[in-house]
Amino acid sequence: KNIALVAGGYSGEYVISVQSAVVIEKNIDPALYDVYKIIITKDSWTYTSPEGVAAEVNKNDFSLTVNGKPIRFDAVFIGIHGTPGEDGRLQGYFEMLGIPYTSCGMVTSALTFNKSYCNKVVAALNVVNVSRSVHIFRDKPYDAAEILGQLRLPVFVKPAEGGSSIGMSKVNKADELEPAIQKAFNEDSQVLIEEFIKGTEVTCGLFRAQGNMTVLPLTEIRSTKEFFDYEAKYTPGITNEVTPAEIAPEAADTIRAAALELYNRLNCKGIVRADFILEEGTGKVYFLEVNTMPGQSENSLVPQQVRAAGLTLRAFYGMLIEECLA
Ligand code: DAL
Ligand code: MG
Repeated sequence: KNIALVAGGYSGEYVISVQSAVVIEKNIDPALYDVYKIIITKDSWTYTSPEGVAAEVNKNDFSLTVNGKPIRFDAVFIGIHGTPGEDGRLQGYFEMLGIPYTSCGMVTSALTFNKSYCNKVVAALNVVNVSRSVHIFRDKPYDAAEILGQLRLPVFVKPAEGGSSIGMSKVNKADELEPAIQKAFNEDSQVLIEEFIKGTEVTCGLFRAQGNMTVLPLTEIRSTKEFFDYEAKYTPGITNEVTPAEIAPEAADTIRAAALELYNRLNCKGIVRADFILEEGTGKVYFLEVNTMPGQSENSLVPQQVRAAGLTLRAFYGMLIEECLA
């Protein structure tokens, strides 16, 4: 079968996406699938053959012509973090063309990609605690003093549609809020300001394949930095990521149950990683985000969880491909 592996994208997570695609490509079984890695940028959608011949995708039908030979795809493995691979855009495009793909659908992708709207939906589903937050827009007035009246410091300021902690700050003091908002607005026109929950970040990868749900072992993030930022996420050794998480069994059960419930209620497909904070002292579990395009790089969490589950990445990616073809 011909599988297109799309990577790159238009966001600051381009580099991580390319690193994810290296791991995915290396671990898709060549006996079962012919993989064509296509790098998508604003300017080009390009496949480069092993001989170094470049071919542009025909966007009318997502086909390629390589050495005069037309190639059509049975499925697309989407490996783009950020827009347009994680926010529903490519999902909508492949829906329209009728080409199966490995991720959540368009609506789920778009919803979960916007951390602010997703917080509101998850709070309404009543599955897990959600911290209080304010959603602001670059082109609409907001009042920093009013925000500080509504939320308790410290707060996190995040681009609403971002990833890998790019443009994100932790604000401890009132006068740090405005600069943090401006930093986030450099990345996105929408910003989420949410109350900081002190505790341990715990993350849960899960997927459905061939009729079965698999919940992977949890990872506990023991960061020595103030939060799990870009550097901590991708520099080996900075963060101690413990899989399986060494947390109280009841907390682990609560987190797994919440992740499963969210997967089902949000109509997820493929591999999803749900992130939570286990609050220090109270043991309460708070929602952080649902990642519908979790990192697959050598330093990413899901590959660690897959290995800890006793699965090979080859078997795992094979299951994701077969599931989307089913
Ligand atoms: N946004 C990064 C890639 C992740 O969630 O793993
Ligand atoms: Mg993310």
